Amino acid sequence: MRLEKHLISILESLHDAVIIIIMDSTIVYINKAYTKQFGVPAKKIIGRKLSEIEKNSRILDVLKNGKALINDFSYVHSLNKDVCANITPLMENGEMIGVVTIMKDISEVTNLQKEINNYKHNITELQEKLEQRTFAKLKSQSFPMQKAVGLAKQVADTDATIILHGESGVGKEIFAGAIHEASGRNDKPFVAINMASIPESLFESELFGYEEGSFTGSKRGGKKGLLALADKGTLFLDEIGEMSLNMQSKLLRVIQERKYQKVGGTALHSLDVRIICATHRNLEEMMLAGQFREDLYYRLNVVPIHIPPLRKRKEDLKYLSQNILNELCAKYGKHVWIDDEVLSWMQSYDWPGNVRELSNVLERMIAVCNKPYLSLADIPEPFISDKSLTDPALKERWMLKESPSESIPPLEKLLERLEREHIDYVLKNTKNKTEAIKTLGISRKSFYAKLKKYDMV
Ligand SMILES: Nc1ncnc2c1ncn2[C@@H]1O[C@H](COP(=O)(O)OP(=O)(O)O)[C@@H](O)[C@H]1O
Ligand SMILES: [Mg+2]
Repeated sequence: MRLEKHLISILESLHDAVIIIIMDSTIVYINKAYTKQFGVPAKKIIGRKLSEIEKNSRILDVLKNGKALINDFSYVHSLNKDVCANITPLMENGEMIGVVTIMKDISEVTNLQKEINNYKHNITELQEKLEQRTFAKLKSQSFPMQKAVGLAKQVADTDATIILHGESGVGKEIFAGAIHEASGRNDKPFVAINMASIPESLFESELFGYEEGSFTGSKRGGKKGLLALADKGTLFLDEIGEMSLNMQSKLLRVIQERKYQKVGGTALHSLDVRIICATHRNLEEMMLAGQFREDLYYRLNVVPIHIPPLRKRKEDLKYLSQNILNELCAKYGKHVWIDDEVLSWMQSYDWPGNVRELSNVLERMIAVCNKPYLSLADIPEPFISDKSLTDPALKERWMLKESPSESIPPLEKLLERLEREHIDYVLKNTKNKTEAIKTLGISRKSFYAKLKKYDMV
């Protein structure tokens, strides 16, 4: 059989697109699959120069330098397609006479890849959100805090109304989010409302929503209320101690009747939400003083949870600051650790603003820090009062912060610290020691020697 005779029919029967050009870039052949995949009829393209149709084509590169490209991915403008191609010089008697290209339309694959990347991105975002809202953040070494978290976990998957008591900044909203996430309502919205920020006159329209034209300045089409937004999910009523008596009675009515009407509307909507509320006030005292309705108090006070202030759980400072630091480092694209002296300052400070204050101070320190660690010198001035920096030796060190010999550790100490931090980080982020050793790129022997040196076994 003379194979050459059949070559054209072989090319025509291929499912991959074939295009052949000669040395002046004139297109001399395309097969049927080319027409089919890219919708280009042979008569429209044969005889034309590729250099005019697609001037950045990879085929032209091969034409120029004679080097084949195998499994080459590229985007072809004139076809508006992503393709994968094998582009090879066509030789005759040792001389290059053109280029033959066999290619596949991979737009669908690329689109799928893009879609997968989008999903991946969404999943990461959702995971981040979930991490924001789980009990993991609330891990604690302190007994009263463990009790609070334990109770929250226990009642999370019920519809019981929960009231979170605790000073401002202790993490009441984090508790509420974690409870929602651990409940059967976690696939429905978590809607937080700060009662202190809703003006009396807007209470009903914000909570219940309103129908179109119900008052001057109302939006066209009306507006959904927060209760409707939280439908079948969890409603977090923050700062309930800040509500006026009038607002309290309106809230009591919906909670009791489990029904409400939009402003300007007649239809009755039913309230299907789990209520979690929070306050830093002493509601019992407010009740005695006639500032909080007794009936509302008893409605809400089904499962009270007391979250202790940070000064009563200083054993958590290390874990908390590490967690917050990790988040901040990701945000600022830095890798910073906390010096032992800073930790001891944290232990001596009373944190009247609780975890919020801790988080703010760390952010302030990290934002301006240009060293790989936070040291005493980075503590903002206002904190260095007699009250917060009680240790006179530490205070003196802070005063001396300008002196380099005082605030800059020797290189060896710094490197050791960095090494320890990094090994610790890798250990926490790998499945087992073997993986950690591989990630660190050191020998098993040296790995164990370091663990021993840094007391990490
Ligand atoms: N356990 C925690 N881990 C990390 N950050 C926390 C924790 N508790 C509170 N925070 C941070 O402190 C700030 C105040 O928390 P929040 O829940 O709003 O407190 P509250 O509602 O009690 O005033 C937020 O920025 C929150 O991210
Ligand atoms: Mg709050």
